[in-house]
Amino acid sequence: MKEHLKHPVFKVLADIAAQHTIEAYVIGGYVRDIFLERPSKDIDIVVLGNGIEFAELAGRQLKTKVAVFKNFGTAMLKYHDLEIEFVGARKESYRANSRKPIVENGTIEDDQLRRDFTINALAISLNAANYGVLVDPFQGISDLQGKLIRTPLDAEITFSDDPLRMMRAIRFASQLNFSIDDKALSAIKKQKERISIVSKERITDELNKIILSPVPSVGFKYLFDTGLLRIIFPQMANLYGVEIINGKGHKDNFYHTLQVLDNISLNTNDLWLRWAAILHDIAKPPTKRFEEGHGWTFHGHEDKGARMVPQIFAQLKLPLNEKMKYVQKLVQLHLRPIVLAQEVVTDSAVRRLLFDAGEDIESLMLLCNADVTTKNEYKVKKYRNNFELVKQKLKDVEERDKIRNWQPPITGNDIMNAFGLSAGKEVGLIKNAIREAILEGEITNSYEDALRFMLEKGKEYGLQPAN
Ligand code: CTP
Repeated sequence: MKEHLKHPVFKVLADIAAQHTIEAYVIGGYVRDIFLERPSKDIDIVVLGNGIEFAELAGRQLKTKVAVFKNFGTAMLKYHDLEIEFVGARKESYRANSRKPIVENGTIEDDQLRRDFTINALAISLNAANYGVLVDPFQGISDLQGKLIRTPLDAEITFSDDPLRMMRAIRFASQLNFSIDDKALSAIKKQKERISIVSKERITDELNKIILSPVPSVGFKYLFDTGLLRIIFPQMANLYGVEIINGKGHKDNFYHTLQVLDNISLNTNDLWLRWAAILHDIAKPPTKRFEEGHGWTFHGHEDKGARMVPQIFAQLKLPLNEKMKYVQKLVQLHLRPIVLAQEVVTDSAVRRLLFDAGEDIESLMLLCNADVTTKNEYKVKKYRNNFELVKQKLKDVEERDKIRNWQPPITGNDIMNAFGLSAGKEVGLIKNAIREAILEGEITNSYEDALRFMLEKGKEYGLQPAN
């Protein structure tokens, strides 16, 4: 096991432990990640004694500043690219209405027992007698091999102590493609309501990590099956289910959304594009109608969905900035390329799409490709072929007309100068008419054409050129 502590800093810490006869261990995520072969820069050290004093000794030795968090009994230092946190071994118990524990000193095993999962409770000794030896009293290694999220303590106590761990269990399962042990899973189902004592920011942090995991549906299925999703993000849980009228059903939009999310995750690691996949059909439940002779419709779900985005971002404490606007735009436009792919594609429809999507056209095409989830091979082929055609058209039209990031060739000022107008309704009307003419392909996207068109339009409105 010695070979796991390759970094020279461990030798320095071991020497301090020996000189001051304090037992010290590397513990938690860093040790887990050694066995998962995921390099990590965050090291947690637990000492049987005072963590802050040990950190100060280490800081002196390593000639680096130590940040002390007295309230938590922890201290942290940075050494090269490493962040090392020190804490005294603890035996904890929690109160029913708070995540803040009552703390007493404990043994290394007490400390391991109070940690969230067996895979996070692994420790490696820094002590002379058994330097580099793995301390694994709760079979963490066997759970790593069996790909299992299990709690060292009775799961009911672990989650009740700190309900954020319910989200963490699902997050680790999703990141690592592990299963959650049955007892832990029933404990989450039983205690799901306790998630309400955790701050929204922390919940969303974990949710974002689930979204960024390789196959995010793993986490979302657990969130749904445990009942947590309905509490933290009810709009998404509402996508679940199939209604049947006159023998006609619609697809289950929850599983469809998960499929779209998994699909897009094969092509992007961008959190916000993945959010757009989650939210693209979010307004299907509130817009659902059964129309006689037609079947199920979801008219306007893209508009309503776009309007729901700010409210969902606010509720989840996601940023209300340009990221939100980006997600909103993709939700709003998500049907457009599909329509283009089904019908004969006109240049003007392509120009309009380029104009509306602007620089986000590639993201939109990724979303639309991911949205093809039919099991019908023939349809999949047809859609994909049509998308290729749309992509080619987008390229051709863009090369010719430069509509992406379009700036009007004639500005409002140009119009005012040309007719000696001051700002007013006519200026806007003429500007819109020029834009429409370009998008419809009546004139080219050039200054000369736009100028000629402007003068004609002016005439129609009874305006005289200024000179
Ligand atoms: N821990 C815990 N309960 C929590 C949070 C953390 O028991 N609610 C313990 C675990 O032993 C964990 C360690 O503290 O391994 C460090 O926590 P943290 O840095 O949050 O997570 P990591 O396990 O390091 O994983 P990641 O870096 O992916 O968040």
